[in-house]
Amino acid sequence: MAVPPEFIEDLRQRVPLSDIIGKRVKLTRKGNRFSGLCPFHSEKTPSFSVVDDQGFYHCFGCGAHGDAISFLRETDGLDFMEAVERLASMAGLTVPRSAPEDPQRTRQRKAALDILEETTKYFQAGLKRDDGRVAARYLHGRGLDAGAVGSYRLGYAPRGGLRAALAARGFSDEDMLAAGVVRRSDRDGELFDYFRDRVMFPIEDRQGRVIAFGARALGDAQPKYLNSGEGPTFSKKSVLYGWVQAREGLRRKLPLLVAEGYMDVIAIQQSGVATAVAPLGTALTEEQITHLWKLHDEPVLCFDGDAAGQRAQKRALERLLPLLQPGKSVRLAMLPEGQDPDDLLQKEGGDGLLKVINTASSLIDSLWTSFAAEHDLRQPEQRAEFWQAVRGQVKQIGHNQVRTAFADEIEARIAAMRSAGRGQGRAGMAGALRPRVKRPAAGAIHRHRAVCAIILAHPALIPDLCETLIQIDSGDAGLESLKKAAIDAVIRDPDLDAAALRHHLDGLKLTDAIDVLEGDEMRARMPFNPATLNGEEAGRRLDELLRLVGGSSGLFSTSASLPR
Ligand code: UTP
Ligand code: MN
Repeated sequence: MAVPPEFIEDLRQRVPLSDIIGKRVKLTRKGNRFSGLCPFHSEKTPSFSVVDDQGFYHCFGCGAHGDAISFLRETDGLDFMEAVERLASMAGLTVPRSAPEDPQRTRQRKAALDILEETTKYFQAGLKRDDGRVAARYLHGRGLDAGAVGSYRLGYAPRGGLRAALAARGFSDEDMLAAGVVRRSDRDGELFDYFRDRVMFPIEDRQGRVIAFGARALGDAQPKYLNSGEGPTFSKKSVLYGWVQAREGLRRKLPLLVAEGYMDVIAIQQSGVATAVAPLGTALTEEQITHLWKLHDEPVLCFDGDAAGQRAQKRALERLLPLLQPGKSVRLAMLPEGQDPDDLLQKEGGDGLLKVINTASSLIDSLWTSFAAEHDLRQPEQRAEFWQAVRGQVKQIGHNQVRTAFADEIEARIAAMRSAGRGQGRAGMAGALRPRVKRPAAGAIHRHRAVCAIILAHPALIPDLCETLIQIDSGDAGLESLKKAAIDAVIRDPDLDAAALRHHLDGLKLTDAIDVLEGDEMRARMPFNPATLNGEEAGRRLDELLRLVGGSSGLFSTSASLPR
């Protein structure tokens, strides 16, 4: 529904920005501006400034900048229309609309929201009741602490009593039915509580209002999760579970994961190493993807490391390509086979999850490898088909510049494949592809470790060899995290020396992987100590090793012989 631009301008004039921001941030007047602690990053001294006359805010710390509407969108997660509505109600105006909403529907929606809120409180209290003890114990047994239970407002739905409790608060049967918390029995026409003897996960919209429930069976009751039906407040395809809590987590600059289940989201958030949202039992919709990019430029999608997970990943890629925008992307992470993030956290803790996040592939790498894996690239006609398939995918990208950038990169990779193949015969082509299809040669792991040991001791070598370093894949998740983290750090700060890099990697909990490189076994295998080599020598050793592990600099030489 279009709103006249004059109306929006009028709103901006009428509602002082400091009033809006002042509700969230303590502002102090300084001449014609206000200043306070920035709500977009954490700081101890104020660098956030609000100028009423011009209607904008600016943070000299993190660069956040915008007007009343962008502030409401960012901090309250409103969409454009919702932000306009909010401003209009502050100004005491009504938004001019071409088609006003049916007042009966508006009333029912409002009643449903009130009922869902009351019901949430009722379920929360349920955990404290005698008959809720099993549920409370269940949540505790799954490792959730009181903070998580409180922040996600988890609860217990008793076997009965909700309808009476809501009726006592004056809600009508009709509104309870519309809110989806009671249903009418087909058998006798009586109303009954829809959620009974289940652990309750309230599903909130982006403003934190409860709009539906997911309900987990405690025993073997089927279905395992019973969810609210679509209704006046709830459209499954537009909602991401855990949005509000994730937005909080993102203030701490954590990575954003997209998981599959309620428990995954909560466990990830509780781990403190990342934050997460989940679609509700379905693949990500276009609308959800668009919302995700409001939270984070590059969320990490998690997939199970089995064949089904790989198919799901490929479908997700195909759905994402048409939607890509400049600066917006995703990374794709593979979980250990058969584990969801919650299982992984239980088994390996935050470090295990961090490893998965740090080894997530970029979108273009995933695209390339998932199509490469479907072809026998030693056969010329299969190669041609592979190229055609990848080019076909790139054509699906809707945004012109993004499409061009992808096409350039894909063409460069195809060209590299062709030149690696020329004159080398089949073996050459297979060698050229080894890195991309992630099939490391057996026994090469020590060489990969030696590569890592050298670049950690001589970060200055990294920038020129980035592409090659990324291409070679040891197949060892810990080592790959370490390598990627080192490359990332040096790309961001090319002046990093070995000590600073080491400090940075320790901060990412990669110390274990580094210890392996510096352990006795590697010392025995490497006929040199990376730390005492001079730069030139280190470069030569690295070059040799890269050749041995099939890096593209000199793919097929067999000259050198270290380490064994
Ligand atoms: P899973 O079956 O993988 O369950 O469903 P889970 O999330 O690991 O749950 P726990 O750990 O056993 O408690 C993943 C998601 O799919 C939806 C839910 O959103 C669930 O979190 N789902 C699953 C349903 O909606 N209904 C079901 O019966 C099962
Ligand atoms: Mn699970």
